[in-house]
Amino acid sequence: MSTDHYFDIAMEKIKSNIVLIGFMGTGKTSVGIKLAEMLNMTFVDTDDLIEKDSGMIISDIFKDMGEEHFRDLESKITEKISELENQVIATGGGIVKRENNVQNLKKKGLLFCLDARPEVILQRTSGYSHRPLLQVEDPIDRIKELLKERDQFYAKADHRIDTSDLTINQIAENIIKFYRGTVG
Ligand code: S3P
Repeated sequence: MSTDHYFDIAMEKIKSNIVLIGFMGTGKTSVGIKLAEMLNMTFVDTDDLIEKDSGMIISDIFKDMGEEHFRDLESKITEKISELENQVIATGGGIVKRENNVQNLKKKGLLFCLDARPEVILQRTSGYSHRPLLQVEDPIDRIKELLKERDQFYAKADHRIDTSDLTINQIAENIIKFYRGTVG
C-alpha cells in the first residue's frame, strides 16, 4: 500500500468534528443536537451563526441582500468554524455549492449527508416560512429540481444516510457507528 494511503488513514483518525450536510428538512439540526448531547461535543449551526453575526433572519438576508450575499456570509462562517475541534456542525442545505466550503469542513471533520425522499422533505418543511428557497407555488417541483442539481455536491460526503423512515435516535446511532469506526 502506498505511503499516501497510510497518510490518509492517519488524517482520518485525527478528524474530530462531525459535519452534517444535506437538503433542507433532512433533520440536520435535530440530529446534530442529539449527537452533541450523546457524544458530549459542542453543537453549532451555520444558519444560527449567520443570523447572530448579521443580526438578521435568513429570509430577510435573502430578500434584502440576495442569495449571493447570504452565500458569502455562509462561507465566512464556514472558514471560522472549520478551525474548531470537537464540534457537531449542522450546515445549511446549500453550503456544499461552494467547493471551498466543503474543503474547509473536511479539514477537521467527517462529512455525513442526511438524505430524504422529496415527499418527506415537503412534509417536514411545510408550515415553516423561514426557508426562502421553498417559498414558491410548487415546492415539490422545486425540491426535486434542487435535489437533482445538488446530488453531485452531497455525494462528497464520507457517509450518507436516508433518513426518510428513521427516528432521530436511529440516525444518530448510525452516525456514531461510522464515526467510531473511522475516528477510533
Ligand atoms: C438553504 C438551506 C437553509 C438555509 C437557507 C438556504 C439551502 O438551511 O441555509 O435557507 O440553500 O438549501 P437548512 O438546510 O438548515 O434548512
